[in-house]
Amino acid sequence: MMDNDQLLIHKYKEIFTSQADRELRYFFSPGRINLIGEHTDYNGGYVFPCAITFGTYGIARKRDDKQVRLFSMNFSEKGIIEFPLKCMRYVESDEWGNYPKGMIHFIQEAGYQLPAGLDILVYGNIPNGAGLSSSASLELLIGVMVNEIFHLGIERMALVKLGKKVENEFIGVNSGIMDQFAIGMGKANNGILLDCNTLKYEYAPLNLTNQQIIIMNTNKRRELADSKYNERRRECEAALTQLQAELDIHNLGELSEGEFDQYKHLITNEMLIRRAKHAVYENQRTIKAARELKRNHLAEFGKLMNASHISLRDDYEVTGLELDTLVEAAWDQKGTIGARMTGAGFGGCAIALVENKYTETFIKEVGKKYKDKIGYEATFYVASIGEGTKEIAEEAVL
Ligand code: GLA
Repeated sequence: MMDNDQLLIHKYKEIFTSQADRELRYFFSPGRINLIGEHTDYNGGYVFPCAITFGTYGIARKRDDKQVRLFSMNFSEKGIIEFPLKCMRYVESDEWGNYPKGMIHFIQEAGYQLPAGLDILVYGNIPNGAGLSSSASLELLIGVMVNEIFHLGIERMALVKLGKKVENEFIGVNSGIMDQFAIGMGKANNGILLDCNTLKYEYAPLNLTNQQIIIMNTNKRRELADSKYNERRRECEAALTQLQAELDIHNLGELSEGEFDQYKHLITNEMLIRRAKHAVYENQRTIKAARELKRNHLAEFGKLMNASHISLRDDYEVTGLELDTLVEAAWDQKGTIGARMTGAGFGGCAIALVENKYTETFIKEVGKKYKDKIGYEATFYVASIGEGTKEIAEEAVL
């Protein structure tokens, strides 16, 4: 058994002393990276993410009453956050507690009765503010936990959608479905090619024998990310509306590059043309990238990663100095097959596909260039691709 588990259980018993005779249940929910297909999900396009082995651990047991009590080891100074099952409003001062609260709220609103409250402890090892979806990880953790403990029988896809609803309607970020989907449906050593329009998906094995995916964290917090994110989404909607003057389409993901180039004159604003171009071209790149990966054409896959970053930098404008510095330094390194930002952008993380034998020099050199230019360190992790949200064990087996 890992020390981590013992530590969490110990802490749980220290924080929550009532109902000590009840069995503890233990869950894990991953974070995610996106290999390619950025800002395409809310445009009805393809994404290609995978779940990673960094994530959020959660321990829970039922209470006798109808209170929910939460404690996070990452925000222990905040103490216990408590609310009744009946009253589930967003409360700013509850901070991180709003994610679990939103999830429980929408599960109940969907018609599932929770017969009792819970005491829940969580601990996440996803680097803070890194854009690896710690919020979706937490949403799915709570969803799966409540579903299993109370035998609610909610299907996984329904939980994924409820997680997105929390983000959109409880927190107020107009995000797409990618993060919750990758986290809820992840499979070890596989990427998931998801059509966000139809929600059809296929797993794509990552046969990386001589290569590794390196996660590069800018350590720049994604400030203003949420408002900028919503702004990009509105820009795409505005471009779509203008295209719809002549085209019978429901989202940008329906267009090929050729069709877009033929009709882009319908968009009256140069900036909106660039935003829409990114959405259309990135979607097509994602389809091609999945095909290349299937054929094990890693060099081609890498080129598409690079093109994705350039489009996010120049047309979609969501990268910024820190991400560009990391990615451009990565491109210059021997052994780099491809590199790009991952997730929403505006800080957070980039990823690089690197030949095994060069990873050590890669980390050293890219790290040095970043520190020289930005003034503080980047952090590097070797990604391992793991499972979606799941119960790890009941106390009896721990
Ligand atoms: C965030 C959102 C996702 C997706 C990405 C960009 O992670 O939560 O829905 O839009 O940004 O691809």
